Amino acid sequence: DINTNEISSPSTLSSLVAASLRLKNDLEPIAFPTETVYGLGALALSNPAVLRIFATKGRPADNPLIVHVSSLSMLRRILPPDYIVPQTYTTLINAFWPGPLTLLFPSSSLIPPAVTAGHETVAVRMPSHPVARALIALCDEPLAAPSANSSGKPSPTRAEHVARDLGGKISIILDGGPADVGLESTVVDGLAPDGHLRVLRPGGVTVEDIQKLFPAGAKDNGTDTDADADAMEIDFADDAMEAAPTTPGMKYRHYAPSVPVVLLVPLPTASDSNSTPSLNSLPSASSQRIAILSHTLGSLSTPHITAQRLFDGLLTLDDSGADLILVESVEESREGLAIMNRVRKAAGETRWIDLDR
Ligand code: TXA
Ligand code: MG
Repeated sequence: DINTNEISSPSTLSSLVAASLRLKNDLEPIAFPTETVYGLGALALSNPAVLRIFATKGRPADNPLIVHVSSLSMLRRILPPDYIVPQTYTTLINAFWPGPLTLLFPSSSLIPPAVTAGHETVAVRMPSHPVARALIALCDEPLAAPSANSSGKPSPTRAEHVARDLGGKISIILDGGPADVGLESTVVDGLAPDGHLRVLRPGGVTVEDIQKLFPAGAKDNGTDTDADADAMEIDFADDAMEAAPTTPGMKYRHYAPSVPVVLLVPLPTASDSNSTPSLNSLPSASSQRIAILSHTLGSLSTPHITAQRLFDGLLTLDDSGADLILVESVEESREGLAIMNRVRKAAGETRWIDLDR
């Protein structure tokens, strides 16, 4: 019964104070807005508090959580005391924090095992949403927060999505309005000995934006003139490639509404000789109501708008009583990379469409 929830106004200090007391005194998870998606937060340094996040979401225990900090000094507090932050991370932090970028750090004895799911690394980000920042700062300690959805469902981008999904299970949902980015943060691992950055999950910060920070020769120390050899390599861990590193969470079916989602991709041209698909017909039952999500997602030339609306579209159409959701593919550049990553996981199947007809 969501009427028993305090769906608080984030603009009042008293609702933030109430939320921080609930987190600290009762170790209860609460939902709060971030610029990417809504999070389900609990004290990151308390193992019992973190376990309640897993229980509320029905999340597999082997999928680690992201730790959210509100300041660099809070980050410092949770890192191993003698750890030196690599230059690549300093560059990324200066460019993208606060914001939709998560970095892997070596874990420390302060981080409960439930957070890292036993991994030697801990994922950390500094969100930019003022309500998220204020809540963490009021707690004066980091919050572990996955997206505030039942495991396997699309991530919530509005307080109403959280209320519909988890309303019976949590007592505070801070409403910060619709999420600005709409997709989760980009998860980057720069800890490998080769110094390369690996994008484990595409997200709100695009690979193109990261690449711009590390142009060929940017690491040139002046003694080596081979600019190419010095360029920062950015590997994308495409989770279709089994050998590639990826986040533990990527192996689970994800982002799936309760009705089937079909991804529509353009029919390859005749020159794509090794694949000769035939046009599939759409489901035959004429009584089905078919919702076409692409109509709500804006223009193909503004992928950041599509990103902002994708999960809202899936959740709203799911709730509207549609029997099937069709999503048109977008180009896999900029935000399109993360969009297609999420849509592929949401979609049970892919069909060819002939866009020229
Ligand atoms: O934008 C976001 O990142 C949102 C908001 C709430 O901050 N949070 C979010 O959390 O998306 P979640 O739990 O839904 O996704 C966290 C992802 C998972 O794919 C998880 O496997 C990965 O981060 N992850 C967490 N810790 C990791 C680690 N130590 N190594 C590799 N991947 C890790
Ligand atoms: Mg999630």
